[in-house]
Amino acid sequence: MKLTIGIEKKLIVMNEWIEISTPSLRGNEIKYLTECITSNFVSTVGPFINRFEEEVSIKIGIDKNKTVATSSGTAALQLGLISVGVKPNDLVVIPSYTFIATANAISYIGAKPWIMDIESKYLTLNPLDLEKELEKHTYAKDNQRFHKSTHQRIACIVPVFVFGHSPDLNSISNICKQYSIPILIDSACGIGSKHDNKNIGQLGIPGIISFNGNKTITSGSGGIFFSHNDSEIKFVRHLASTAKISNKYDHDMVGFNYRMSNIQAALGLAQLEQLENILKEKKEIHNLYRTKFYNSNFFSLINSPEWSQSSFWINFLMIKDEYIDKSSDLIKFLNDNHIRINYFWKPIPFQDPYLNLIKSESAKKNIHIQQKLIPLPSTATLKKIDQIKVINLINKFFKNNYS
Ligand SMILES: Cc1ncc(COP(=O)(O)O)c(C=O)c1O
Repeated sequence: MKLTIGIEKKLIVMNEWIEISTPSLRGNEIKYLTECITSNFVSTVGPFINRFEEEVSIKIGIDKNKTVATSSGTAALQLGLISVGVKPNDLVVIPSYTFIATANAISYIGAKPWIMDIESKYLTLNPLDLEKELEKHTYAKDNQRFHKSTHQRIACIVPVFVFGHSPDLNSISNICKQYSIPILIDSACGIGSKHDNKNIGQLGIPGIISFNGNKTITSGSGGIFFSHNDSEIKFVRHLASTAKISNKYDHDMVGFNYRMSNIQAALGLAQLEQLENILKEKKEIHNLYRTKFYNSNFFSLINSPEWSQSSFWINFLMIKDEYIDKSSDLIKFLNDNHIRINYFWKPIPFQDPYLNLIKSESAKKNIHIQQKLIPLPSTATLKKIDQIKVINLINKFFKNNYS
């Protein structure tokens, strides 16, 4: 693919890069953003914010007024955790494999993540490890759970939608009920995903979504907190708006300036209008990878879990253990061919700020997961010719190295 651009009257010809996940802006984005400018509503007040919240409610299958738009997914997560009762010094269970924001949102509150293992097929929180750890390391007091050695309260369990795949929420929710621990889903990458044929807003569990630029749809930067519980919604809305209680600048607690702006909401609304189409395109991209990479000796393509219908936000190859020492060469080879691929999330137990957390025995073993995972170009507007190029290059790399 060649791109020709003019700079200082010279014509420069350069190769266009194939990206992993970039915004697909083909709808009312310019129209709605222009409305923000012409109406002068460019900040955290304006008609697009309500419209965005309502449209998200419809798309995820939750009642109107059960969503709060925030400045980022991380902000939504932090406020969501506070609203379900997380306090400083509490423990919050998270899976070892997630983006660092899951752990950071907990740290911002002064609580600590407790790291549990993931299952090996879809890399989501492993209910077996969760149950084993809670059984072995916690005790009950006043209808709450506490850690046996630190006596910290277990305030919440945060399963994560990894790459658009739902965790096994039936099993995890049962464990949460059994141990009387609240649950909050980090479905930052989960818009358009379903669990047991239910949209993420129909699961009866509070959660968050990210609309960062690399997500299925984007508001530039932004997030949503959703919950069926009115008091959680009111509390998050209040906290996100500096806890202001009057128009005389009275504030009843230390709040946050975490509201979404009208500009972000305008972009997000235009994107939401295209969600079904984008999800269809992403499924087609996944299906082509699946057909072409069927039964490889060298890797598997991560599929939708049995219990979920994935949004296929980003497709991933999982390199078989005996070939992972070649993954950096594969990345270099693809980069040399103008495919902008790099390693993805590093597991939380191996991140500098989180080296000393409490973690399950098996969660400590996931050191190689980053090296095993190769993200594949998955942008909704990815051209078929480019996807075929990626597929052929990957097949060629393994053939050249191992046949
Ligand atoms: C799993 C996960 N959690 C949380 C976040 C945070 O969202 P944001 O980038 O909108 O703050 C992200 C986004 O990148 C994510 O992938």
